[in-house]
Amino acid sequence: MALVAGVDSSTQSCKIVVRDAETGALVRNGSAKHPDGTEVNPSHWWTAFLEAADAAGGLADVAALSVGGQQHGMVALDADGNVVRDALLWNDTRSAEAAEALIVELGDGDRAKGAQKWADAVGSVLVASLTITKLRWLRDNEPENAATVAAVALPHDWLSWRIAGYGPAGDPSAPLGPQLDKLFTDKSDASGTGYYDAEAQGGKGAYRYDLLKLAFGRDDIILPRVISRNGWGALAHQSVAGGDLGGGSLIGPGAGDNAGAAIGLGMEPGDIAISIGTSGVVSAVAPRRTADGSGAINGFADCTDNALMLAVTLNAAQVLDAARSILDADFDKLADLALAAPSGSDGLVLVPFFQGERTPNRPNASGTLHGMRLKNQTPAHMARAYIEGMLCGLADGMDALKALGVPIERVMLIGGAAQNPAVQEIAPQIFGLPISIPEPGEYVADGAARQAAWVLDASTAGYDVDPPAWSTSMSKTLPADEKPVIRKQYAAVRDLV
Ligand code: XUL
Repeated sequence: MALVAGVDSSTQSCKIVVRDAETGALVRNGSAKHPDGTEVNPSHWWTAFLEAADAAGGLADVAALSVGGQQHGMVALDADGNVVRDALLWNDTRSAEAAEALIVELGDGDRAKGAQKWADAVGSVLVASLTITKLRWLRDNEPENAATVAAVALPHDWLSWRIAGYGPAGDPSAPLGPQLDKLFTDKSDASGTGYYDAEAQGGKGAYRYDLLKLAFGRDDIILPRVISRNGWGALAHQSVAGGDLGGGSLIGPGAGDNAGAAIGLGMEPGDIAISIGTSGVVSAVAPRRTADGSGAINGFADCTDNALMLAVTLNAAQVLDAARSILDADFDKLADLALAAPSGSDGLVLVPFFQGERTPNRPNASGTLHGMRLKNQTPAHMARAYIEGMLCGLADGMDALKALGVPIERVMLIGGAAQNPAVQEIAPQIFGLPISIPEPGEYVADGAARQAAWVLDASTAGYDVDPPAWSTSMSKTLPADEKPVIRKQYAAVRDLV
């Protein structure tokens, strides 16, 4: 039995699954925490990976592995392979002004024109999350760090490089040293940088060095090689993975976490995934991206050569954490409370932009409660308003996908919060569609493992093989139960903030 591993190096933790390459059956798994915050030294991702691998019983018997990771984070390396500063993550909004400036510059002073030009060029109108805006911020705010940048990677590329044995000069855990030209990535993650066009050259994809230069003032920087969807980028160092098999595991291209979840769920055109994790994501797989100049939808790539259309909110599972904290409730109590209040919480509406927001683009907004009346000042109304507000943000994202003509045939709800009984009851009232809940799982790590199995297969059977047919089972499908009042009252106050 050949084994493969999938890694999810996410914002909050590193998760590893080891699965049977042929059937997808789970064999072992492990996880380890990452530090909190919106900037982090990548060395924490490496130590958490090693800890999670240990907890998963080691990776010495694994024939191939792939790394999925949080998208967009800026890992800027100097010529010795050291990070020039802590990585700025996708949820760090300090580059919001840089994003605006770059939009206006590409439009020669005309914002609307610039927004459309970015969408046409790279699939997305810039927001603070995208890597290119962080490079502009670095150029303007830390010129001494900017001057030493020799390569820029994303979190998953950097971790794959470390697993292959590369890393900072003189670091005993990096026996192959700082060979920056050995960095590699995949289309899905490259498509979230803002300087990669996944549809260039008839779908082959290409970096846009001109845009990198516009943002950073330099283009003499090593960018990770983008490898094909089932190719392998390097062999793992034998001390890290595959040591028992003689030669080290194959390391697959990896993926941005949303593309990882899409292949983990086996998403096809017509499927929509709503993920409630640290970020809230509404995503759809489509044969081609659409260039949404309004900025609501990002046109990224998935990791099977389709497009991945995405609306992302910064305020998702943490909104439920905030509700638990003010109500002093665990998840079950929060659900009981929320379900004790009526749909629409008797007019109490939370606009949950606690951390600013990305969709809609309000990096400096804060959250607000509207419609307070004596009647709705109860813990139950409050619990329900928090859940409704968080889901309304995602429903706006789904509307934006619909407006672009993205077909919607099946909607799946995933992420930790999808298991909450109140979220399950309220979501069909807000989305107005039947919603399937897959069996709980680590879909990003599972997707990375499925990609690794595909890579393993392709390495012997040829690159035309399809991904292995691992199945995803649904635990239940909730019927549509639309309650228009909820979205109507949210829409009336959303734009007041
Ligand atoms: C996607 C995005 C987030 C991160 C979270 O554009 O910014 O979903 O990938 O890890």
